Amino acid sequence: MHTRVRSAILISGRGSNMQALLDAARDKADFPASFDLVISDRADAAGLDIARKAGCDALALQQTGAGKAAWEAELTTLLRRADIELVCLAGFMRLLSGGFLAGLGRPVLNIHPSLLPDFPGLNAQAQALKAGVRVAGCTAHEVTEVMDAGPIIGQAQVPVQTYDSVEALSARILREEHRLYPACVARFLGARLQPSPTPEPETPVHAH
Ligand code: GRF
Repeated sequence: MHTRVRSAILISGRGSNMQALLDAARDKADFPASFDLVISDRADAAGLDIARKAGCDALALQQTGAGKAAWEAELTTLLRRADIELVCLAGFMRLLSGGFLAGLGRPVLNIHPSLLPDFPGLNAQAQALKAGVRVAGCTAHEVTEVMDAGPIIGQAQVPVQTYDSVEALSARILREEHRLYPACVARFLGARLQPSPTPEPETPVHAH
């Protein structure tokens, strides 16, 4: 079997996108990542139990009075110790600092419930309804220090119904998130694992 890229998932809550990633890694023989570690910034995240039941190492790392920098340093230590090469955020509710991202030196991906760059931040589905758009969706993207603004890997659209509710629209988008995120993790890693293209032979320059 091919070597899979050792990956971690960061969560804050119920972990349904985490579950979709774990399922893809379990069910698809050619999936390029293994999910070896799940970390939640909240001890009460339901996703922690789901991860443990799936056989993942799962732990809570909560920020203490020592502050955000100390929390990020601890997170870096845990990820390094587990030889993590890729981090996937899945319903993770904290903004990671530029210092953390640069220091980690590993790609961090995220799934967001809107067609970015529209409706970044919290309550994206409610923002979409308020704006009156007819097409909503979700985006998988690389994480930078600017919230929901990193390079886009892939998007999926869903229709907005007349008289849609936030709950109904969120559920419709979530179903697409579960399909899109594993596909985009695979696409992202696939692109990285491609050998770089052979350079074109240089056209000889003839001196006259
Ligand atoms: C998802 O809608 C995700 O796009 C957003 O937060 C929600 C998390 O849901 N970032 P879950 O924890 O993956 O079920």
